[in-house]
Amino acid sequence: MLIALLPGDGIGPEVIGEARRVLDMLEIEGLQFEEADVGGAAYQSYGHPLPPETLDLARRADAILFGAVGDPASDANERHLRPEQAILGLRSELELFANLRPAKAFPQLVGESTLKEEIAGAIDLVIVRELNGDVYFGEKGMRRTAAGLREGYDIMSYDEDEVQRIARVGFETAMARSGRLCSVDKANVLETSQLWRDVVTEVAREFPQVELSHMYVDNAAMQLVRDPAQFDVIVTGNLFGDILSDQASMCVGSIGMLPSASLDGSGKGLYEPIHGSAPDIAGQGKANPLAAILSAAMMLRYSLGLAEDASRIETAVEQALASGLRTPDLGGNALAAEMGEAVIKAL
Ligand code: NAD
Ligand code: IPM
Ligand code: MN
Repeated sequence: MLIALLPGDGIGPEVIGEARRVLDMLEIEGLQFEEADVGGAAYQSYGHPLPPETLDLARRADAILFGAVGDPASDANERHLRPEQAILGLRSELELFANLRPAKAFPQLVGESTLKEEIAGAIDLVIVRELNGDVYFGEKGMRRTAAGLREGYDIMSYDEDEVQRIARVGFETAMARSGRLCSVDKANVLETSQLWRDVVTEVAREFPQVELSHMYVDNAAMQLVRDPAQFDVIVTGNLFGDILSDQASMCVGSIGMLPSASLDGSGKGLYEPIHGSAPDIAGQGKANPLAAILSAAMMLRYSLGLAEDASRIETAVEQALASGLRTPDLGGNALAAEMGEAVIKAL
């Protein structure tokens, strides 16, 4: 089993280093790693954020463990040469259309949430985010208006096949959990969202066991901090899912805690923390590595069929937290390496 390790930029290599140490500790037979540059790091060495060598490795691998991309030094690049294009390119080239972003309260961390403890403690939800379409991948550009003003534009669209396939993942995810699915859109304003709502409603007929509700995204953002326990599975588009998942991460304590899986139609996946390269703390060794470590656990469960090893990692993370260790995002002063070490010790 070949794992492509793509650490990327900023804190990416720091958190992936810890995830790798945890995986090594498990001594899984036949697990091999091959590493490649991606993002700003790849741009510096190859002149492109997603060089053909890296894309080829991602294609050959059974699963991809990804850190983060983003480098302030490249923010002025033409868009196709910006580090972020690497993760967007991997998602679209490999058709990783289904992004699972689970947010579950850690009993040890309820005090770290900015929400009241009784509200934060009840959170157990999954955001199923579409990853190959929406305003992210529509035509975009800069132009001049008739009056000579600069105008930026990005076209938002979904076709019904794209909505259908992510809706099915949403329903299936709900069936494996409590059977409740909330579809989040902005159908009161956007045609893209009207189609989304119509198609999700059509797909619901295939899943009579699931209780489907619809919610506008502005209300969903509010409900997520008012009463997050009302949600079990949320299915939504690329842009709304991006925003709501960062918000959900803070509800359970920190963006440094949320892992994700990006899956294609056959179970191949890319696994990454939902956070970015965090240039403000990069190089200081104090990033929270738990989101990356939990992403490695998701990789074992979803792409490698190693659910037991995945659970071992998740339990070890809880034990590390129970020991009281906290990185700065969680109000402590532990280093990434110390947190990684605590997980390894628990294993
Ligand atoms: P970010 O997620 O990198 O950071 C937001 C804030 O959260 C920062 O204050 C950061 O220090 C903190 N933070 C994030 N991860 C943390 C961790 N593991 N431990 C402790 N604190 C953590 O978002 P941003 O600042 O908006 O973006 C920075 C760069 O990352 C940008 O270039 C952006 O495009 C990129 N980005 C990449 C990905 C990805 O690779 N999938 C995701 C999000 C952002
Ligand atoms: C994420 C990030 C990416 C996104 C960026 C870096 C393209 O914010 O993975 O959440 O918007 O999807
Ligand atoms: Mn994001």
